[in-house]
Amino acid sequence: MNEQPIHALDPRYYTDPELFKAERDGLLSTTWQFAGHCSQLNNPGDYFTFELAGESLFCIMGRDHVIRTFYNVCQHRAHQLVSGEGSTRVVVCPYHAWTYELTGQLRAAPNGHAVPGFDKSAICLNEVRTETFVGFIFVNLDPDAQPMDTWFPNARAELEAWLPNWQTLKPLEWVEIEEHCNWKVSVENYSECYHCTLNHPTFATGVIKPETYDIQPQGYCLRHTTECQSLDNMTYDIDHSKPHADEYSSWFLWPMFSFQVYPGNVLNTYHWRAVDTERVVVWRGWYTEGGWDSEVIRRLAVQDRATTVEEDIKLVESVQRGMKSRGYKPGPLIVDPKSGVNSEHSIRTLHQWIREAHNA
Ligand code: FES
Ligand SMILES: [Fe+2]
Repeated sequence: MNEQPIHALDPRYYTDPELFKAERDGLLSTTWQFAGHCSQLNNPGDYFTFELAGESLFCIMGRDHVIRTFYNVCQHRAHQLVSGEGSTRVVVCPYHAWTYELTGQLRAAPNGHAVPGFDKSAICLNEVRTETFVGFIFVNLDPDAQPMDTWFPNARAELEAWLPNWQTLKPLEWVEIEEHCNWKVSVENYSECYHCTLNHPTFATGVIKPETYDIQPQGYCLRHTTECQSLDNMTYDIDHSKPHADEYSSWFLWPMFSFQVYPGNVLNTYHWRAVDTERVVVWRGWYTEGGWDSEVIRRLAVQDRATTVEEDIKLVESVQRGMKSRGYKPGPLIVDPKSGVNSEHSIRTLHQWIREAHNA
């Protein structure tokens, strides 16, 4: 039998606003999405708001120190409850002063007792599935979603092992990168290294050994692994006594978040936020113990922005223009049965997940 190569996805997945809308209502509302970092909530009543799939939501710490997430909408007549970030004893709606406990339970409604049969115990803010994961807060709008450990087997334990200090890590720097492309073009570019030797000069000559680079699915996680070159030429000092200090690894959590650990147990993250069909903002997070300033990490962030990020922006924006060309027909993926750095088996996996999201 003649085997046929697998072809890249149809361009409409990257250009059709209808498909983008379907992703917002479907994929974004049924997958684990980054909300924030645990260090943003230190005391009961601390909260912050964020947007997801066109919804305003807020995370708030309860008196039991549990972090909960609610739709940011009053159960009376739909006014927004909180904005920005802050700290509060109870959640008070600015419209008619209905007051909610930090657990979302309605505590008081002015003049409510005048209404026969008014049962405040039956009224509660609409809660959203929330998990903390290595110090990060993720939410899932699907109440029936499987837990993160089912979606991303072993990722939590591995990250905790790679980041022995994860409980004290805090964000030091967020670098915001705007890309004029569909979010999937950017995610695909992140998820293969077939383009690296040619486009990232620092990659082939830097810390990792390209010939050992590989990306393999682990549930809905794409796990990047590689061996490192001798770490003697690193631009920063490494405490080799820490476990995994001499390794590089990354965990991409489908669909829009990635943890990356550099040698020396240095954590950095990617968070993709799809703005519209042809625009995505990538947030690069950099972390240090206690969020303390670090010349080394700041220099890494600047260097990363100036090299890899800059090189990738040019690639993804060119691809987005190409997706709209009448002259483009999706070509075969280079899927090497032996995997490795010059294989696009990880793109094949991503395309399966994208088709799944569209029931195609
Ligand atoms: S809408 Fe919130 S108290 Fe009326
Ligand atoms: Fe790249």
